[in-house]
Amino acid sequence: MGKASNRKRLTRSAARSFVGKGKGNRHRSGSTLSRPRPQSRGVERLTIAIDGPSGAGKSTVASSLGRRLGYLYIDTGAMYRSVALRVKEKGVMLEDELAVGRVASSLHITFATEGDQTHVFCEGRDITEAIRTPEISRLASSISKQKGVREALVRIQREMGREGGVILEGRDIGTVVFPDADVKFYLDADSDERVRRRHHELAERGVKADLEETRGELLQRDHNDMHRSHSPLKKADDALLIDTTHRSVEEIVEEMIDIVKAKSKG
Ligand code: DC
Repeated sequence: MGKASNRKRLTRSAARSFVGKGKGNRHRSGSTLSRPRPQSRGVERLTIAIDGPSGAGKSTVASSLGRRLGYLYIDTGAMYRSVALRVKEKGVMLEDELAVGRVASSLHITFATEGDQTHVFCEGRDITEAIRTPEISRLASSISKQKGVREALVRIQREMGREGGVILEGRDIGTVVFPDADVKFYLDADSDERVRRRHHELAERGVKADLEETRGELLQRDHNDMHRSHSPLKKADDALLIDTTHRSVEEIVEEMIDIVKAKSKG
């Protein structure tokens, strides 16, 4: 990661800060989307796809990029997690794919930023913390295999990104959700580093987790994401691969901004 000691390292905790500043800056799927004020002028409203495995730093750089460009940042993983939480709360059996799909289709998700912190609301309830537990991570990984869930969430994501000026981050953005995205990035990092980041993120949130357990779960989820039959995680042919292992957030974001600007000048 960065050489300078004051450089921010890639941790998931910084990743929640996206889409502009100020209380109540809310946006939701497909309706009134409030956008942050651009800090970079003269950049067209492009669609930017960021994919990659867990702990690659996608959310951190996507949120920072969103603020710099004045683009909406959409954390699609939070959407799968929200469906998982609702499925659990409603007592829906995972095997009942029709019922799980119905939960996904009726998902009413809202993202709101307050200063540097982004909150996720489901039907008006703040579920930011509730969707970050290891149990919900496992459940999200499991329901994200289901075709009905993916179709419902992809529909919502396309609606959210319809107008451009948007950064979507996930596993299938450049391959399935927006295969024609203007700019595609695929972020990756050494698995040890990804595990370290995830462990650090859990510790920061007060979740005690064994490092080896975190490793097992993260690698298992990556394996599931890469090997499922519907929309597996893979790099789009035209995505730019960025290895974040030894780099600072600032360096990566600067590189991305240069690429986005070059693209928007056409
Ligand atoms: O990025 P995350 O850890 O918050 O994602 C949670 C789960 O959702 C993870 O198992 C991968 C899955 N996911 C997906 O299948 N497709 C996406 N576009 C985003 C996340």
